[in-house]
Amino acid sequence: MEAKTDVLLGLQWGDEGKGKIVDFLTPHYDVVARFQGGPNAGHTIEFENRKFVLHTIPSGVFIPETINVIGSGVLIDPYIFDQEVQSLKSSGVDLLQQVLISRKAHLILPAHRLLDAVYEKAKGKEKIGSTLKGIGPAYTDKTARKGLRVGDLELPGFPNRYQNLREQHLQIASLYDSNPEEVVIEGLPFKEYEEEWLKKLETLNRFKKTDSEYFLNQALKSGKSVLAEGAQGTLLDVDFGAYPFVTSSNTTVAGVCSGLGIPPSEIGKVYGIFKAYCTRVGSGPFPTELFDETGQRLREKGHEFGATTGRPRRCGWLDLPALKYAIMLNGVTELKMMKADVLSGFSEIKVAVAYRVNGKETNKLPFDMDRTVIEPVYQSFEGWNDELEKAKTFNDLPPALKNYIRFIETETGVPVSLVSTGPDRSQTIVK
Ligand code: GDP
Ligand code: IMO
Ligand code: MG
Repeated sequence: MEAKTDVLLGLQWGDEGKGKIVDFLTPHYDVVARFQGGPNAGHTIEFENRKFVLHTIPSGVFIPETINVIGSGVLIDPYIFDQEVQSLKSSGVDLLQQVLISRKAHLILPAHRLLDAVYEKAKGKEKIGSTLKGIGPAYTDKTARKGLRVGDLELPGFPNRYQNLREQHLQIASLYDSNPEEVVIEGLPFKEYEEEWLKKLETLNRFKKTDSEYFLNQALKSGKSVLAEGAQGTLLDVDFGAYPFVTSSNTTVAGVCSGLGIPPSEIGKVYGIFKAYCTRVGSGPFPTELFDETGQRLREKGHEFGATTGRPRRCGWLDLPALKYAIMLNGVTELKMMKADVLSGFSEIKVAVAYRVNGKETNKLPFDMDRTVIEPVYQSFEGWNDELEKAKTFNDLPPALKNYIRFIETETGVPVSLVSTGPDRSQTIVK
């Protein structure tokens, strides 16, 4: 039988623990591929007392036999890519052998970051809370059909095309900022940053480029298995998230086909990953957000600070209407529950089972989510005190946690096939 592409993607607002689980699942796959997003992602992987945070490079690189593809739907910033490559030097990973980059992946140019910064500043209180990695402006140029792609670096016209686009960008930026060339990126004024960026193209140039749609379809035909690694989360999807507080790509399963160039018939299992509670970094609606001591406790116990920006993450209880919505959009076949250990020690755990909007209960996410007053309808669960480090199998888990998991399975109709009990690769229970 022909192999399929299984997908692992986030069901919440990102940072669910995708990096950890992609690394954990990689021994079962020949190829791991990122299909969308860019260095706004921060995927953490921990094993053998080492910790790595990846932004563009897929999380399958720590298993030497695996090929890791940066697909066409991904945005690459050569400056951040170089930083990532340097940070992996101590890991012993042979990136040049293991990583393939799609020629069709678009580049994040220095001026995209400049535009991201001036647009966000101009939004004032309405800001998206972007990671300021240039994601919005780079995807804008892609859909406006003027972006530059990795493959363009090999073509003779690149310097001219770069200069033309740069001039356009600076003109636009000057409408927002009287001195755009002084805007600071990575601690450097724009022009100095740009000089560094241009130097870093050399690192990117050393990597193997591919037409990833041919590579992946041929891999599948020859019986190789592929795992697609999502970035961000379903509720940040540009079409189905709480617009405009979203990212600029399709973070849902549809993004796998458009971002890798594989047909829907080649999609196999869809693993949906979620935290046992909820977090969000950046602005936008978050119905179950906790502003009290409990929220603070979740943040401290869960070390909820952004892997890309270091910003404190907003924390709250699990939101079932949102989770069910994400499961529906992606056709999730298995759930993976993360950070169960963080809930240890809470005497009461709550789950939003519905929303109350204008006095009426609903299970649907309202259209105008950021302007609608949503009151979560909570169901309470008994907590557990036992820390989970000793648990090795599902049966070792405290009865109250098993009860919580069963409730989620019944409500969603999807089995929870994995429970994560800590950041390390070894702290993972397969059910
Ligand atoms: P990603 O963007 O989805 O890959 O997730 P991040 O790496 O941004 O954030 C997840 C954070 O939680 C990282 O610091 C992980 O090391 C950590 N983590 C992952 N799984 C668990 C878990 O089960 N328990 C705890 N305590 N931490 C976890
Ligand atoms: P991973 O892959 C969490 C959020 C930002 C902001 C919004 C738009 O690590 O889960 P952007 O930089 O795309 O313009 O930001 O999306 N965001 C993320 N939040 N995890 C991420 O990635 C995110 N990538 C973007 O905080 O609210
Ligand atoms: Mg992250």
